Amino acid sequence: LKLDKNFEIEKEYIAKSVYFYHKILLSDLPLAKEARLYLEQRGIELEHIVKWGFGFCPYSNELSRKVEKKLVPSEPLLELGLIKKSKINDGFYDFFHDRIIIPIYGHEGSIIALSGRLFQPHLQSKTKELPKYINSPESAIFAKSNVLYHFYAALQSIVSYGFVLVVEGYMDCISLVNAGVTNTVAVMGTSLTHSHMEALSKVTKRIIICFDSDKAGQNAARRTFFIAFPFKGIDLEYLEIPDGKDPDDFIKKYGVNEFHALIPKTEPLLNRVCKWFFEESNFKPEVFLRQAKEHILPIILQHPDKQVQDESLLFLCDKYFENVYPEDLRQEMEGLSSLHI
Ligand code: CTP
Ligand code: MN
Ligand code: MN
Ligand code: MN
Ligand code: MN
Repeated sequence: LKLDKNFEIEKEYIAKSVYFYHKILLSDLPLAKEARLYLEQRGIELEHIVKWGFGFCPYSNELSRKVEKKLVPSEPLLELGLIKKSKINDGFYDFFHDRIIIPIYGHEGSIIALSGRLFQPHLQSKTKELPKYINSPESAIFAKSNVLYHFYAALQSIVSYGFVLVVEGYMDCISLVNAGVTNTVAVMGTSLTHSHMEALSKVTKRIIICFDSDKAGQNAARRTFFIAFPFKGIDLEYLEIPDGKDPDDFIKKYGVNEFHALIPKTEPLLNRVCKWFFEESNFKPEVFLRQAKEHILPIILQHPDKQVQDESLLFLCDKYFENVYPEDLRQEMEGLSSLHI
């Protein structure tokens, strides 16, 4: 394998496997019907299953049976993490068993990985804790930190709407796109990386983060601020979903019009991050000032545009610090930088 640098052979095996699982999801198998019903209850109709290429791997020997019968070579599927060597015999098992499969397209538009969402209605009483999602292993073809889910298909809309909406999860992205918010991409549970930012900043200047409003989502948004704020010429904003929900839950409960009504409430991510720090400081400006010096000033300092730095410092002083002036913070900030040299 690894015969050519574009990984054409690997990609062909991935695409064929996805199609194989896709046909299972569309089959008459009772479990497949249950999986379709589950998806339908989540608002995913047959047309969406086809559009997004969803699949299903109900048992652990779907693909591996083909391999054992020598209908498919084991080597590429092992390398791609689609099958694993059995621990009890010399056979194989499907890595994505008991999961609904979501194909992940790379930024060039071909399938580069699979994600599997746990779905085992027949085992509901089982106590074993399995991860809700698993993904294809990281490889030269697929690195989560370089790929945004739905980036390729969203490109046109991102350009025409003039902004991108960045959500956490597959289902958030799929729900939003199905509801017409087609300029959405998902980070697949991490924060936005430098490499994601490079891809996005080539197509838009306005990036709106819309993560889950639970603690994990807030922390990911904060990490995103640390990484993404210093990008030149980017408006980095935050859209808060009320009630501790994720965008998918919100749309299911309130509808897409209510979601659209949130968009004017978008604020700079810097402001939102400051509010989180301020909340954590129990609303004590002197505690927050220490936090800001340690965590926020070094990021502002990294911004290549002095005007943005000044505006950010002014914002901090105006909103939070009575007797502190932007020049004080600038001095503090530049003091920090000399310490790090
Ligand atoms: N994720 C992951 N592995 C996990 C959990 C999450 O890779 N064990 C990634 C997935 O990309 C997932 C995203 O993080 O879509 C957000 O996780 P979470 O909010 O927990 O899941 P949801 O997307 O809300 O999943 P669902 O609505 O299907 O319950
Ligand atoms: Mn989450
Ligand atoms: Mn979520
Ligand atoms: Mn969800
Ligand atoms: Mn002030």
